[in-house]
Amino acid sequence: MTGPAGRTARSATGRRGTRNRTGRAAEPVRPVPEPVPAPAPELAPESDGDALARTIAMVNDKGGVGKTSIVANLAGQFAAAGYRCLLVDLNRQANLADDLGFRDGPADDHGAGLLLSLVGGTPLRPVEGVRPGLDVVPGGARLVDLVPLMVSRVQERGREAFRALAEVLAPVAGDYDLVFVDCPPETTILTDLALTAARWVLMPTKSDGGGLVGMRLVGERFALARELNPQLGLLGAVLFATGSRSRVVHAEVREAVARAFGGHSPLFTTTIRHAERTAQDARRLGKLAHELEQEVAAQPAWWAALRAGQKENGGRRLSPTAASVAGDYRDLGVELLTLLREAEERAAARPEQEATS
Ligand SMILES: Nc1ncnc2c1ncn2[C@@H]1O[C@H](COP(=O)(O)OP(=O)(O)OP(=O)(O)O)[C@@H](O)[C@H]1O
Ligand SMILES: [Mg+2]
Repeated sequence: MTGPAGRTARSATGRRGTRNRTGRAAEPVRPVPEPVPAPAPELAPESDGDALARTIAMVNDKGGVGKTSIVANLAGQFAAAGYRCLLVDLNRQANLADDLGFRDGPADDHGAGLLLSLVGGTPLRPVEGVRPGLDVVPGGARLVDLVPLMVSRVQERGREAFRALAEVLAPVAGDYDLVFVDCPPETTILTDLALTAARWVLMPTKSDGGGLVGMRLVGERFALARELNPQLGLLGAVLFATGSRSRVVHAEVREAVARAFGGHSPLFTTTIRHAERTAQDARRLGKLAHELEQEVAAQPAWWAALRAGQKENGGRRLSPTAASVAGDYRDLGVELLTLLREAEERAAARPEQEATS
């Protein structure tokens, strides 16, 4: 992904080469590392001044449909391409810490900081540099208290309580080009929190019944969230871990999105292929698909390794499918940026059209 290579680093608010509000010096644009190329449309340098304008919630009420895998890989690839990205993990199980390889390390506060910010209003302090250009607000076991706390807040204050995430995220979101919120399954109250903070929903699904039912529930929460957050839009649904390029399967998923979201049925053209061994390599090693792709390329031929008696990765060879999976994520990233840019251009054109009509 080319990202903002070739231009001065800018945040979503169009700042250039200054210190950001956390006091970090804005980094010069890194050269695009190989092999993370792929053309990416640049996001427009100016946004509408809303810090949360590029906040994307990964939501599906059903578990295991690829929310965490997709969000980790997208953010990882965007960061490698020069975009500044923030990942917020609302999950107790915190698989993001596995996928990015920081579980139980010094960066891992198991969700304590996020909990404190959400319930105590203390400033959010993302863990910086989990990858170059990628900061994370970790989730984890400490978030176990968040649901009951939110329940009592909603009883006290009504639905306004769902603004909590938006309020703590807004002061830091301007430091980033893209912000992703990874949502837990089957936790309506945290989904509501994310949907009130986000501008966009990205919804992975499998083609089976469960993922599609989970999608319907998101449709209901989406409609409710728009009462508090009228700018919320559906970026699209992504078919995950599929072996099928079947038009019938795609049409079924498209129909399910249309039913869940009242007639709008954006389904990403890109799908993420089923690749169990690569998924296992990724979580076991804490590496993203494009990082595995580089390691696969550097791996000696199997016969050479055998002859040398090498026992890299505990004697396990990395699956070469990583390269194809990384390619899927690159295509998805390009498609996402294209949609985002088009949506922003449409939004920017609207006031002009209204003024001339
Ligand atoms: N391309 C792939 N093909 C098959 N399985 C995959 C692929 N990528 C990831 N997986 C595996 O699929 C499982 C579910 O993925 P993931 O954790 O991303 O889903 P999720 O929607 O975030 O789940 P949850 O709702 O429980 O948080 C994981 O075990 C992951 O390792
Ligand atoms: Mg997950």
